Amino acid sequence: MLPDARKMEAVQIRLGIAGLGLAGAFMIRAAAVHPHFSLVAGMDPQAAPREAFARDFSAQIYSDFESLCADHFVDVIYIASPHRFHADQAVRALECGKHVLVEKPLALNLADCDRVVNAVERSQRVLIVGHSHGFDPNVRKMREIVTSGELGRVAMVLAFNYTDYVYRPHGPDESNPELGGGVVFNQVAHQVEIVRAITGQKITALQARVDRLDPGVPTDGASMAFLEFDGGATASLTYSGYGYFDSDEFHDNVSEGGTLKSGGHMFRRLSGAKHQDEGAIRNLAYGARSLPIEQPFLPHFGVIIVTCERGDIRMSSNGILIHDGNGTRHIEVPRGVGRPGQGDALDALWDAVRNGKPCIHDAEWGRDTVAALLAIQRSAKSASRVELGRDLSHVA
Ligand SMILES: NC(=O)c1ccc[n+]([C@@H]2O[C@H](COP(=O)([O-])OP(=O)(O)OC[C@H]3O[C@@H](n4cnc5c(N)ncnc54)[C@H](O)[C@@H]3O)[C@@H](O)[C@H]2O)c1
Repeated sequence: MLPDARKMEAVQIRLGIAGLGLAGAFMIRAAAVHPHFSLVAGMDPQAAPREAFARDFSAQIYSDFESLCADHFVDVIYIASPHRFHADQAVRALECGKHVLVEKPLALNLADCDRVVNAVERSQRVLIVGHSHGFDPNVRKMREIVTSGELGRVAMVLAFNYTDYVYRPHGPDESNPELGGGVVFNQVAHQVEIVRAITGQKITALQARVDRLDPGVPTDGASMAFLEFDGGATASLTYSGYGYFDSDEFHDNVSEGGTLKSGGHMFRRLSGAKHQDEGAIRNLAYGARSLPIEQPFLPHFGVIIVTCERGDIRMSSNGILIHDGNGTRHIEVPRGVGRPGQGDALDALWDAVRNGKPCIHDAEWGRDTVAALLAIQRSAKSASRVELGRDLSHVA
């Protein structure tokens, strides 16, 4: 018999989940084993994931967001609905006195990002944008080494990822660029967050190309971007979701989530998976399938190599490697208290809500990531370099 988390003393943070789909299911798995969090409420318009969630956690369930906001037992709302709901739901939750963890992207345009930034200010509540792979423990370790200056100035970050993203099951929003469909808002967002987190610098300008390589799939599946930062660093971001080469081969065949991979991408590509396969989408919802419990390795997002004045840093499956004038050394990166990745976002949330510790992934951080994603799309459309000044409204 599970303890009734709703009636427990508010020692733990009581989490309500909005959107019991793929991202929701991953966060639920992380929160369920995190000592600081209890899962007390879930909301989704679909009945099946709601019922599965209620069964697993003796939790309250709702079919509409307003009712979740009105639940006095909920301290924090995690928003994992489709992109187009993020801004309105974040603002509403803050107005109702809730702290917020909202999935990337924070919003689809800068005006909506600004509404969220202002709502955080008015409400004096915490808002963190996450999870993203910018929270991964090995990304944080790279940031620590870069900012310590032990390898000198950071000059370049190389990030590339070759996946089968295009052929994974997706909802209808995926084919609509206005709703953030395509790799830029869904996948390149992680790379932008990673390189921002590692360099600790602001993006000042970028040039990008975005491409569609399969005429049968109406979505942007490949992207390449060159980023310039205010501290002098640059970053190159390459993403292809067409399911031929799998760049996890360069990472000991460890998957994005930190498990060992068994099959290649080619299988999914050749098996005729449809871009919008409603059955497959339902199968991703909470409760429809079991997610791997074991997580033997750290999560990651493709290959990341950081070049500093006196050495290069790259990731291993359980830490980082430093290549410098003394040779190569491996540093194992410890895990936090919960599952690495989503668990790190929960740690940051706990620190911010309970200890008042600021998190770099706040609403303004989320706004700057959205500005970069919009600039990538604009640069690709205009085939020109786009500058991101302090006032970024011109890229909206
Ligand atoms: N950080 C990550 O690694 C990661 C991974 C996957 C998805 N995401 C993000 O999570 C969000 C959801 O993506 P997904 O892949 O889980 O999609 P999904 O389609 O699997 O799940 C979305 C869920 O939201 C529900 N929903 C629809 N309208 C809603 C509303 N108004 N309020 C609440 N729920 C609603 C749907 O019924 C569905 O169950 C996206 O913004 C995506 O960018 C992040």
